[in-house]
Amino acid sequence: MVRILGIETSCDETAAAVVEDGRRILSNVVASQIEIHRRYGGVFPEVASRQHVLSILPVIEEAMAGLGWDELDAIAVTHGPGLAGSLLVGVNAAKGLALGRGLPLLGINHIEAHIYANWLTGNEIAFPALCLVVSGGHTELILMSDHGQYRRLGGTIDDAAGEAFDKVGRLLGLEYPGGPAIERTAQYGDPTAFKLPRAWLGDSYDFSFSGLKTAVLRIVKKYESQGKLQRLPLADLAASFQAAVVDVLVEKARRAAQECGARQILLAGGVAANKTLRREMAQRSALPVLCPPIPLCTDNAAMVASAAYFRFQAGYRSGWDLDVIPNLKLPGP
Ligand code: KG4
Ligand code: ZN
Repeated sequence: MVRILGIETSCDETAAAVVEDGRRILSNVVASQIEIHRRYGGVFPEVASRQHVLSILPVIEEAMAGLGWDELDAIAVTHGPGLAGSLLVGVNAAKGLALGRGLPLLGINHIEAHIYANWLTGNEIAFPALCLVVSGGHTELILMSDHGQYRRLGGTIDDAAGEAFDKVGRLLGLEYPGGPAIERTAQYGDPTAFKLPRAWLGDSYDFSFSGLKTAVLRIVKKYESQGKLQRLPLADLAASFQAAVVDVLVEKARRAAQECGARQILLAGGVAANKTLRREMAQRSALPVLCPPIPLCTDNAAMVASAAYFRFQAGYRSGWDLDVIPNLKLPGP
């Protein structure tokens, strides 16, 4: 039995969790800064790192409540990609604790951690698996052939899917973060009301969401210039935008899975919390589709501890010189 304390501070959630054997969550604590960043309409990096400093020890103490330090086998921490000042808080806390308690330290890639949220569902996972990682910072199609073995097939050439939700949410006057706000608003809308563009980019596995964002902006401006902003059909526009994003994500993931001979599709990242995406992916794919439970789609530390377990078993350890890498890439094949 291997117990790992995971720590996550790459963006605006301060999180710590203890996971047993990569699959069983013993504790999972997330202190969200959403309320603080809402007044700026997005994550304010300087404020985020200061908030991590305030929250990190109480969050770790809560995750360790009822557990002795001698019951742990390792400490794992996200060391990239993410905001440098935020990552530093988690990495330094993890280093201090690991050194002080005589435990091995493992630096974990945040994108890999998102994928491993799927191991916390109790489902069996079959390789090769096609992973669609969609978050505020990433939109990546990845073929995972085994634990720790990744081939990047494509990704966004401009905005990440979650970033598009956040920017369009702001355009529509919805609160931050835009993803959940658009999903709520879209519930009562007609997804076919507005014909919005889909950037297929030929046969590539890349994505582009900036044209879609501009199309929504033009519609808002048109209503505004005619003095009819109050009459903007918000729910229809939110539903049409959501349908356009989901359409491209689902179609590219489905085709990539088929062309690469994947046995399963794994959804991951904050946007994977979107119920339309989850439903459409399951309906339109011939393969089994797995998604983490909704609270494990957005940033958390249980996914970090899960990813760390499989690396720990493979003998991976980080040195005391572990540093933050804000643009860290996934290891190649
Ligand atoms: O994974 P995450 O917590 O942080 C990053 O690693 O970026 O993802 C946050 C992103 C935000 O852009 C947020 O708007 C989006 O995930 N998001 C959603 C939903 N819940 C969160 N997007 C669409 N629908 C949702 N229900
Ligand atoms: Zn994330």
